[in-house]
Amino acid sequence: MRDSFMQEHGTNRPSDLIIFGGTGDLAMRMLFPSLYFLDSDGHLADDVRIIGAARSDLDRDGFLKTVHERLKSHIAADYYDEAQWQRFAKRIDYCPVDAVEGTGFDALAKAVRLDEGGELVCYFSTAPRFYGDICTHLEANGLAGKNTRVVLEKPIGHDLESCRAVNDAVGAVFTEDRIYRIDHYLGKETVQNLLALRFANSLFEPLWNANGIEQVQITISETVGVEGRWSYYNDSGALRDMLQNHMLQLLCLVAMEPPSTLDADAVRDEKLKVLRSLRPITKQENTLKSVAGQYTEGAVGGTAVPGYLDEAQQESRTETFVALRADIDNWRWRGVPFYLRTGKRLPYRYSEIFIQFKGVPHSIFPEESNLTLDSNKLVIRLQPEENIKLCVMNKVPGLGRDGMKLQEVSLDLSMTKEARTRRRRIAYERLLLDVLNANSTLFVRRDETEAAWAWVDGISKGWRDLDLKPKPYSAGTWGPAASVALTERYGHSWHD
Ligand code: BG6
Repeated sequence: MRDSFMQEHGTNRPSDLIIFGGTGDLAMRMLFPSLYFLDSDGHLADDVRIIGAARSDLDRDGFLKTVHERLKSHIAADYYDEAQWQRFAKRIDYCPVDAVEGTGFDALAKAVRLDEGGELVCYFSTAPRFYGDICTHLEANGLAGKNTRVVLEKPIGHDLESCRAVNDAVGAVFTEDRIYRIDHYLGKETVQNLLALRFANSLFEPLWNANGIEQVQITISETVGVEGRWSYYNDSGALRDMLQNHMLQLLCLVAMEPPSTLDADAVRDEKLKVLRSLRPITKQENTLKSVAGQYTEGAVGGTAVPGYLDEAQQESRTETFVALRADIDNWRWRGVPFYLRTGKRLPYRYSEIFIQFKGVPHSIFPEESNLTLDSNKLVIRLQPEENIKLCVMNKVPGLGRDGMKLQEVSLDLSMTKEARTRRRRIAYERLLLDVLNANSTLFVRRDETEAAWAWVDGISKGWRDLDLKPKPYSAGTWGPAASVALTERYGHSWHD
């Protein structure tokens, strides 16, 4: 296994991965299952070791017991293998630490193998207010040398100012090339496929601009509520939790210029240009171009669910839904609306990028045959299923007496049959592997996250200045009616 790893990744150093917040929900739901699968698929070198670090006063056995139980509950029974777990468990250790006091970091220093020329990856899966302290203690214990990389989970701050403070605190210890800001949406297979679609084909590029594209929509629709994370979510809301990061990253991949290579900075330079070209939404335009909503009680999938305020039993103006129109001020995208929409407790779960091309300039088909020529669309589904469809007009087969009839059909551009039957990877698998291999292409650079905050701050400031309350919507609906009005104002409608 080691040999194939070295051939593939060109490294022969022992690697230690410390997961701060190792007993937390993200670690249990995503990180350990991802590492388990990477291991079982032969992608982890033999001497990669994983150390959970958290405040809980556990020993290794106690920690392993928790990881084991949670792992079994999070991965499908078909993919769980006891012998594989036993092999994987050998990699895992645990060290109690206190990120504020700094206790336990000396034990971490003894556990890792930097002295043997090894590499260390520290994954910060804690609240961002601890990031600075963790960095300080890593440095004080000799764990912040040139062979250490750190992974920062979102949210990085809650506005530009606090984001800068977090970035400064981490940047005081680690150089930017060793800081990996993770956005798990970039690890999704179809998101990377978007890069392939755009830049490995010549077909789309001539149309990929304001002359060829009528509108772009990005929707991340969730059926869940705040899942017991009320206090985090209430400080955050849909704009900061989803739009500032995941949705703007997707927008960047759709809108960016072709990078000259797939190198981290080549890609990130292009994404940054997009973020910096986002037209600020002024206070005057705020109510035309953005809608904030908050769910009230309703039913999702036939099950009655309480409203956001009922869950919290307190007043709140936090939005659980946001829809807006973004404009990109550059030659390529002048005048093309990018509609972004995300919310909790919507009718069903899906994430999609929808691109509508311009219609034909003139129809040759007779009016009496009642034909509407739908414009072509490219629909990129990220979840629940992963697929890419190109919708085109086609003749209805047959010998109709009243002339030719047309219909819209979709060409399936998705992955091969073989890929479809394969296990769907957790987005974190790709990203964990990349950080172990020091590849930062799919990670977010400091200037990107700050540019994204600068734009998003303008929107939330507008809401505050106008004293806007989020508009109520019943759980299980597509958000407030104002969201429908938003696209219709510009002659479009949501692709539901
Ligand atoms: C997280 C948000 O970043 O993404 C959550 O904090 C959200 O609120 C989640 O539920 C959605 O991720 P996915 O991959 O399930 O669409």
